[in-house]
Amino acid sequence: MLVDDHSSPSDQEKNTTTDQEEQPQQPLVIKKIACIGAGYVGGPTMSVIATKCHDIQVIIYDMNQQRIDAWNSAELPIFEPGLEEIVMERRGKNLHFTTDYQQVVDSDVIFLSVNTPTKYYGVGKGRAADLKYVESCARQLRDTIKSGRKIIVEKSTVPTRTSIAVKRILESGESKARFDILSNPEFLAEGTAISDLQNPDRVLIGGEDEESIRALSSVYERWVPKERVITTNLWSSELSKLVANCMLAQRISSMNAISALCEKTGADIQQVSFAVGKDTRIGSKFLQASVGFGGSCFQKDILNLVYLADHYNLPEVAKYFYGIIEINNFQRERFAKKVIHKLFNTVSGKKICVLGFAFKKDTSDTRETSSIFVCKSLLEERAKIHIYDPKVTKKQIMYDMKSIMNDCYDGDFSAKMESSRESELVESNIFVSTDPYEAMSDAHAILVLTEWDEFKQYDYKRVFEGMKKPAYLFDGRNILNRKDLETIGFDVYQIGKQESHMADW
Ligand code: NAD
Ligand code: UDX
Repeated sequence: MLVDDHSSPSDQEKNTTTDQEEQPQQPLVIKKIACIGAGYVGGPTMSVIATKCHDIQVIIYDMNQQRIDAWNSAELPIFEPGLEEIVMERRGKNLHFTTDYQQVVDSDVIFLSVNTPTKYYGVGKGRAADLKYVESCARQLRDTIKSGRKIIVEKSTVPTRTSIAVKRILESGESKARFDILSNPEFLAEGTAISDLQNPDRVLIGGEDEESIRALSSVYERWVPKERVITTNLWSSELSKLVANCMLAQRISSMNAISALCEKTGADIQQVSFAVGKDTRIGSKFLQASVGFGGSCFQKDILNLVYLADHYNLPEVAKYFYGIIEINNFQRERFAKKVIHKLFNTVSGKKICVLGFAFKKDTSDTRETSSIFVCKSLLEERAKIHIYDPKVTKKQIMYDMKSIMNDCYDGDFSAKMESSRESELVESNIFVSTDPYEAMSDAHAILVLTEWDEFKQYDYKRVFEGMKKPAYLFDGRNILNRKDLETIGFDVYQIGKQESHMADW
């Protein structure tokens, strides 16, 4: 499907796809694809391409040797259901993880799948996307590829018009190569990445050169129905990715805002969400109230859009989208305050068990997880926090908590912080368990912060017996059976629902 662009920014930037569509052209043959960035997107995306296209050699390059070694080992650097099977099946055949840059240079198509975090310094600090990794990729490509024709694909999420910068850099050196730039943002969600990639709602390709667009489409069309491959101009493609994430996050923030109202009025957020989602214009997905959304994308991409709007002097637009983040912060703080309040306004020295540290189930990723922010609030009140997560390592949890407590969560956590007062506070008050029953034993309260399925299976009668009384359970994901828990004897708080005891304590 070709989406016409009626608002081309300038002649130079005009989308020429419609004109070129009529002329029959020899298809560009793609024999080798490289991806720069072996992360949560690069790894799974390229692995799926390798399983679907056995005749294409797929190279995943990263400058981080440790990461590449892990991809080449028995223990992959990321956990994602279904990933290990396909990597083991294709690795060494047409799927290769490497730090050898020449493999990139030799490829026909080069994906840029490097990180684009929020800038934590200088102009745009805390809002703008830091494009230094994308820029350094472009410079390295320009300086190493001397001739031939290459399709450069922006897979990273970037602000609209980043492709201009990439193009300017690629064309600024001595290279005689022809570079065509495409935008092909990724819509996978962690935890379901493999099925999302195997059966995407759509594949979005933005670009100017029809032949390159066709070549990239032909790769996806090996397994994605043609009508789901959408082509647009570059700017629409770049912007659509940001807007999609903003709108998904906006739905969650809307329900989280309403959950606070439910708690005041006696309405039930799950009933409201069900009733509202039944309207086919609204739909039922992404209406699950929670302790707040996390993950590496939502906040960063909203901030990115907010910065863009401000940059183009649209403060009303910026303010509108920034509200999504404000509600998310409000929800996290509200939850932590509720815990402190219910525990008689003091958690100092009390054992609190946190179930779940990953930002959602079925991933080991902790980036921007609400658990970090809830634990921070409790740690500031000097609680003794015992954390259990089925996939997140102790090393990761301690690193995250030290970063946030030292106020350098968005930036580099330097070694000198190791010995700071805040790091010592983390060391002496955060405990990571590999056994959930041990983490819950003797606790004043249990906090469910990630919706892992196994949390629903525990023997809560046994748990209750081993806890301090009154025994509190704060379900930040609304996944547990409240009636059963109350029958056992727990005091239960769930998001957007009436409390067991409406009185203060
Ligand atoms: P990541 O941090 O997991 O991986 C990025 C990798 O790029 C790292 O391994 C890093 O070492 C490597 N890298 C950075 N600069 C490099 C360079 N110059 N040369 C070689 N390697 C380099 O990031 P991610 O989660 O995979 O995200 C990548 C991009 O995809 C981001 O723009 C993100 O917004 C976007 N995205 C992420 C998701 C997701 O669920 N994580 C989903 C859709 C889109
Ligand atoms: C998101 C987008 O869904 C994906 O399309 C994009 O490519 C990357 O960003 P991801 O962050 O991996 O994916 O996971 P997602 O399933 O979107 O969940 C994000 C956060 O929202 C998680 O913390 C999740 O628990 C939370 N969430 C999700 C809710 O609180 N309620 C919901 O109804 C859905």
